[in-house]
Amino acid sequence: MRFPEHLLDEIRTRLPLSEVVGRRVTWDKRKSQPQRGDLWACCPFHQEKSPSFHVDDRKGFYHCFGCGASGDHIRFVMETEGLSFPETVERLAGEAGVPLPARDAESERRDMRRKGLAEAVELAALYFEQRFRSGAGREAREYAERRGLSPETLHAFRIGYAPGDRDALTRHLVASGVDEATIVEAGLAGRPEDGRAVYDRFRNRLMIPIHDARGRVVAFGGRALAAGQEPKYLNSPETPLFSKRALLFNAHRAREAAHTSGSVVVVEGYLDAIAVSQAGIRGVVATLGTAFTEEQIRALWRLAPEPVICFDGDKAGIAAAHRAIDRILPLVEAGRSFNFAFLPEGKDPDDLIADGGAARFLAEVKAAAPLFDVMMERELAGARLDTPERRAALEKRLDELVGTIRDARVSREYRAALKLRLSERLWRSQGERAAARGQQQRGERGRPSEPPGAALNGPLTTPPKEPGAVDRLVLGLLVEHPGLVAAHYERIAHLPLRSERHRAFRDALLDVVADAAHGGGEHEDVAAGEVLARLDGPFFQILREVHGGGQGLRRAFGLLTFHPSADFVERYVLLLIEKIEIAVLAEEIEALTHAAGETIDEETWQRLLALSAEHARREGDYQADERALADEARKIRAAYGAGATLSIEAAGG
Ligand code: UTP
Ligand code: MN
Repeated sequence: MRFPEHLLDEIRTRLPLSEVVGRRVTWDKRKSQPQRGDLWACCPFHQEKSPSFHVDDRKGFYHCFGCGASGDHIRFVMETEGLSFPETVERLAGEAGVPLPARDAESERRDMRRKGLAEAVELAALYFEQRFRSGAGREAREYAERRGLSPETLHAFRIGYAPGDRDALTRHLVASGVDEATIVEAGLAGRPEDGRAVYDRFRNRLMIPIHDARGRVVAFGGRALAAGQEPKYLNSPETPLFSKRALLFNAHRAREAAHTSGSVVVVEGYLDAIAVSQAGIRGVVATLGTAFTEEQIRALWRLAPEPVICFDGDKAGIAAAHRAIDRILPLVEAGRSFNFAFLPEGKDPDDLIADGGAARFLAEVKAAAPLFDVMMERELAGARLDTPERRAALEKRLDELVGTIRDARVSREYRAALKLRLSERLWRSQGERAAARGQQQRGERGRPSEPPGAALNGPLTTPPKEPGAVDRLVLGLLVEHPGLVAAHYERIAHLPLRSERHRAFRDALLDVVADAAHGGGEHEDVAAGEVLARLDGPFFQILREVHGGGQGLRRAFGLLTFHPSADFVERYVLLLIEKIEIAVLAEEIEALTHAAGETIDEETWQRLLALSAEHARREGDYQADERALADEARKIRAAYGAGATLSIEAAGG
């Protein structure tokens, strides 16, 4: 039904938005100014630690500065409770005390009808549950047990059993006062055309109730119990209550977990969803054996900003993922996308959990690839880039694809990322050798056959992730080994450190070393002690950060406790410098692709190609160096004795 706009306005005026939102969030007392209608909280639509979700009570509008979610009363309730528009308006009107206009007789009748159907389906669910626990349900109970379903799971999911008789359910429902027409319309029974009596749709099956977003049972999936019983799953037909294309199995149970964890996993089968949930991952839903629909995509975004969809890693699964891309692309928005997990061939989530528990499945979920990557892989697979015409054809295809994205901002980002990826790819197809090497290394790094001690050894030489920490580590090492400053004077002088303070400190360090050299001594004569003495006054604070009396440095780079050779330290410092330079190079490439916008001129393109080539080459070399150093680090540590169990991981920050 349609609602007049003045009515919606009245709801918004009478009911403060903060009251509606306040049921789902805790206001941040320090940041909020309630008397001014200015309220802040951690966002209910994504995971965050500090509040960036703002409610403006006077305007009746919310906005999250973290994920971009925004809207009014109605949008908030629809998105957090999964209600439809009319349901939401009815609910809010009730709360605000705004009378709704009388509904027309026709929609009243439809509503009554749906209510009757819902009651029939609920009665059926109760009946199936009761049959499951009765003597007749033994085979079903045994089957459920073989599938590893716990009593709690059976209860929570309301698993039932449809007996094998022709019309047991129908007779039961009729005896409870439900008329035959309703039973048939609810999809619970069929009416033969030849006039014979109605018969139950589900016979001798394990019954899995399907709920709508509000948690009403609206349909069933029935699993065959015996091997030859066809089809394997028999589902309710489309009914006024149930639309396969719109519903997600388990959405009503997954909602809360999805909101608290900020993520939701999408699987293909009922029993997969149940197994995943039983393993403790409650934010899981299943599609109902249909292709992805727009309605489902939107419903999933109501649960989490970037749902992870699981696909079988076989040909069919990859094809399904590729089809999903075309459905999703037009709909993506700032902060809203999908990730794709490709499970090992022939294994569904249920199998993975049976094999290795939740951890095994979660590992696959964590490894999920972003939509953009899957899209690029699809387009680049088998693409030939060896002539200008072929390259143009690829560009054209990609252009058209990105053209389907309706959100202007996302589409712009896609074009920029696309160019970067393409230029990398083009370079690769030209310089096979380095590329092959890079790939081999990437493959090896993830190999599962690493010895158990590797986890302890690995981080010894892994540079910190945070760029600022890399800068600090380089400076700290240079303070302790000033000879390296002299040996790599030019490169250090031009090192693109991120912070102004660090650059000033580096300049001072260069001066100290230069002075010592001019004083007639050899470079190597500059002692760490002298450096410390000269810098301690003006750069007291930075010295503490980067060197910390030597202790701090050893916390950041634990291998120093094992007294590596001067040569090793030098190579490690050069590795860090390389890392800093590569990062800056990557930023330059990105800035260039952004600045280039949607059309790219030949000159920029050439420059981009050159930079990407350099980036790929240096990244390949970097990987090789890092591995070589990691191997040596392991040896250095091993030489120190197996008993050493110091805390020697590289500090993150
Ligand atoms: P699968 O055949 O992959 O089943 O169907 P599964 O979930 O692994 O089932 P088990 O482990 O053999 O019990 C995945 C989904 O496709 C739909 C169902 O929704 C099922 O959960 N499906 C499958 C049907 O609707 N009908 C069928 O005959 C088969
Ligand atoms: Mn299965």
